[in-house]
Amino acid sequence: MSVPVIEMTGITKVFPGVVANDGVHLEVAGGEIHALLGENGAGKSTLMSILFGLYECDSGVIRIRGREEKIRGPNDATALGIGMVHQHFKLVHNFTVTENVVLGLEPRTTVFSRPWGNLDLKTAEERVRGLSETYGLSVDPRARIENITVGMQQRVEILKILYRRADILIFDEPTAVLTPQEIDELLAIFNRLKAEGKTIVFITHKLKEIKAAADRCTVLRRGKYIGTVNVKDTDEQKLAEMMVGRSVNFRIDKKTASPGELVLKIENLTVVGSKGVPAVNGLSLEVRSGEIIGVAGVDGNGQSELVAAISGLLPVKAGRILLKGRDIAHESIRRRNESGVGMVPEDRHRHGLVLDFRIDENMILKSYRRRPYSSQLGFLRFPAISGHAESLIGEFDIRAGNGPATIARGMSGGNQQKAVIAREIDLSPELLVIAQPTRGLDVGAIEYIHRRIVEERDKGRAVLLVSFELDEIMALCDRIAAVSKGRVVGVVPAEAADERRIGAMMAGVGA
Ligand SMILES: Nc1ncnc2c1ncn2[C@@H]1O[C@H](COP(=O)(O)OP(=O)(O)OP(=O)(O)O)[C@@H](O)[C@H]1O
Ligand SMILES: [Mg+2]
Repeated sequence: MSVPVIEMTGITKVFPGVVANDGVHLEVAGGEIHALLGENGAGKSTLMSILFGLYECDSGVIRIRGREEKIRGPNDATALGIGMVHQHFKLVHNFTVTENVVLGLEPRTTVFSRPWGNLDLKTAEERVRGLSETYGLSVDPRARIENITVGMQQRVEILKILYRRADILIFDEPTAVLTPQEIDELLAIFNRLKAEGKTIVFITHKLKEIKAAADRCTVLRRGKYIGTVNVKDTDEQKLAEMMVGRSVNFRIDKKTASPGELVLKIENLTVVGSKGVPAVNGLSLEVRSGEIIGVAGVDGNGQSELVAAISGLLPVKAGRILLKGRDIAHESIRRRNESGVGMVPEDRHRHGLVLDFRIDENMILKSYRRRPYSSQLGFLRFPAISGHAESLIGEFDIRAGNGPATIARGMSGGNQQKAVIAREIDLSPELLVIAQPTRGLDVGAIEYIHRRIVEERDKGRAVLLVSFELDEIMALCDRIAAVSKGRVVGVVPAEAADERRIGAMMAGVGA
């Protein structure tokens, strides 16, 4: 075999209380698509951050194209032709695509072939257009970031690194924020990048994507290197086992629902979205206790605004949200929480956690005023607070290096998600609204979270699940409501649902 493009050997990185990488090995051949797989907290992002110079490893050797390198920062990485697309994009929203791409490397106009004052956006725009065409990215160089979809924003991030002439491209969970359609498109882009000789390393939890796009896959578990396999010689079951160290059950075992009283009744709801027009437009929906209703739809059909309106983050323009017969549409958020609405928000960073708080503090964000977390005089009682976090960490298998004292920001993405879900389930709400619950979770964690959601149903909670993953909706829900353009197009029992029928409804064709 020729010299690997990336060779990382014996990489060790310790954070307070946790060995994030423990003698890890990674070898990537030039021009391959290499997947990096591992449970939440296994050390994948850490390893890639070391390669990109964001962290310095405590020990280990990195060779790029056969030469040993010390990568002290992103500038070193860029100089070596390494680019990284982070899970949370770093774009300036009111700038255009081109302005974002050239940020930090602005070309200047020349006079007598010397750089002179002005920013030469025209040349930049031409180059951005050229790159976009070569790789089939279909990005409009003049569009403003705030007006383009998340999928397009990701392509701008790709353009940014191509513009800097990267030929080693690292993606940290690029598909976690994409719709199924956008995922297919991204995997096609990967193949075009590969055809042009680029090397790609991407992190994902979705075994289907690895089967569809990767040549080889390296697996980490709890900071350790487990192995590297040829993707065509393996299958999803084997990959899952390598990753969690036991066999994983992909099917959800649940008995038929026995719905009870009506808990949530939404009548003719209208909610104005960020574009100033109704995103939810006369939507009606019912959820009973003891059942899981899934909202299926293509991203941008009012699902996010529906969830925001129930939680109180967006005002309701018209219609009613009845919780056991009482209209909560205009109540304060605290009042809604106290009347039994639990909420797992779509964006865990913005609405789920206070990132600079400790995990134990995050676990009582909605209950700190109650006993035993507050004393009669209103003082916080720390032993009770940290004991509470301790038990949720155990129950939900949240991996946090410093236990209850861990700062939320330092936890891996999947463990942050588990923390939010743990807090909301622990409140035992009558209505549990869950948006994209398994985004960024590994298969073992998904199995667990799905089981917990079914358990909550069986305890008599009403569950409203919003997910872009049709597989998840079909597996978990008792009834499925397809939404299109802010309205429910039809509701079908899960047994009667098949992917094509739901797909047609999502496209606006009635049941
Ligand atoms: N900046 C940090 N400070 C302290 N601990 C950290 C920091 N970054 C990561 N860790 C810890 O290192 C371990 C590995 O984290 P990492 O983010 O690499 O996991 P991951 O494999 O990317 O997980 P996920 O799939 O959930 O994103 C975790 O236990 C995490 O809590
Ligand atoms: Mg990660």
